[in-house]
Amino acid sequence: MAKETLTITDNRTGKQYEIPVEEGGVIRAAALRDIKTSADDFGLMSYDPSFTNTASCRSRITYIDGDKGILRYRGYPIEELAEKSNYLEVAYLIVKGELPDRGHYAAWEGNIKTHTMIHENIKKFMEGFRYDAHPMGMLVSTIGALSTFYPEAAQITDLESRRLQTRRLIGKVPTLAAFAYRHTRGLPYVYPQNDLSYTGNFLSMLFRMAERDYQPNPVLEHALDVLFILHADHEQNCSANAMRSVGSSQVDPYSAVAAATAALYGPLHGGANEAVIRMLVEIGSPKNVPGFIKDVKAGKRRLMGFGHRVYKNYDPRAKIVKKIAYDVFKVTGLNPLIDISLELEKIALEDDYFVSRKLYPNVDFYTGVTYQAMGFPMTMFPVLFAIPRTSGWMAQWAEMVRDPEQKIARPRQVYVGEQTRRWTPLEQRPEPTMREDAVSDEI
Ligand code: SDX
Repeated sequence: MAKETLTITDNRTGKQYEIPVEEGGVIRAAALRDIKTSADDFGLMSYDPSFTNTASCRSRITYIDGDKGILRYRGYPIEELAEKSNYLEVAYLIVKGELPDRGHYAAWEGNIKTHTMIHENIKKFMEGFRYDAHPMGMLVSTIGALSTFYPEAAQITDLESRRLQTRRLIGKVPTLAAFAYRHTRGLPYVYPQNDLSYTGNFLSMLFRMAERDYQPNPVLEHALDVLFILHADHEQNCSANAMRSVGSSQVDPYSAVAAATAALYGPLHGGANEAVIRMLVEIGSPKNVPGFIKDVKAGKRRLMGFGHRVYKNYDPRAKIVKKIAYDVFKVTGLNPLIDISLELEKIALEDDYFVSRKLYPNVDFYTGVTYQAMGFPMTMFPVLFAIPRTSGWMAQWAEMVRDPEQKIARPRQVYVGEQTRRWTPLEQRPEPTMREDAVSDEI
């Protein structure tokens, strides 16, 4: 029977090494340290900038098959959850590992809704921002500030504390997000209304004006709830990695979620949905698409909302978002930018530049036109990503906390800098040949 091992011959020494191939087809990078040229040699190290082929953990939360375009939360296909479930139930599934029964769902919903209010002092903190502050910057800051209100959250090994902080964060992040939006609009804050659904309450805190009894449009409420389901988790993406890495120092989960939110803010990650709309507005019309595609192929631009580190097929979430967009348009009217998106997709999927690089629409490609039609400003788009992803981040964090194999994240490096140099007095240093700020092209 074939052995589950690799045999490596080090041609520098002629020595052979047998390395176990573990479950999931992985070898332990630490095993490479045994491959040495001498007793005092450090041994081999794997080098993998941006972790393109490095597993950082074993996880049971989300499964992605990038070639087949498969996404499952705890084994349940995203298509089924999007069609049949709701966000709070999916958040329970992601955090707890199983679908809730009726009683557990009611208790979960009650627990989350118990924590939708935020400390009044957060309002003063919020008011410190300029009127035009980006809501993601406000969200990063206010989530981090929450850590100062709940010092007991530092007890990360305490299961009840982890549960309580999870409920607080899933309950409070929509409130922080809505307050940030209202601040940028110069509008009074709308307090949570717990007789509404999780997503309906969020819409109320955003858009309620002077009406006595705000009722969200059920089509838009459902559309946003499905979009929340689609964004709930996505295995070891950039922000989940930030959550795990920062959390590995044993800091409280509010500080770790603030770090994950900051990672999500970037235009290559959760900020891509905002970048897509800016790109569509800049293109302006379907007739300008060929010229834009030409610039992309020349390396001058990126087709935002396209491509993915893992999906080398159509992102299954993008297919669902594209359908939801038209459900929303039936209520709001067609967003004309969709025609540019459709033209971009049509041309890109027939062009070898994209096909050869396996670049397909990702989850961000159609969300922007949908959110815009729902009345959200572009700056709120990454915020709409962060809200549902909070349950995913908390599940990833809790899994890391409980994983006996995990320690503080501290990668190695390959040092390519200067060898030892001696300090010299100022007067002995050579005359500068350039301005101070031109000395380094790194910073
Ligand atoms: C999300 O990781 C996750 O799971 C993230 C996410 C989640 O749910 O958490 O799915 C959410 O972040 C989705 C991705 C949103 N970002 C964007 O849409 C920004 C545009 N996309 C790219 O910047 C890019 O595709 C990434 C960042 C998503 C992935 O980048 P990779 O895996 O590092 O790929 P790469 O940059 O090495 O590109 C490989 C090649 C390069 O060409 P060559 O150098 O080989 O000639 O493909 C090209 C790239 O230039 N390429 C693109 C492109 N994406 C990659 N060319 C044009 N337009 C693009 N969008």
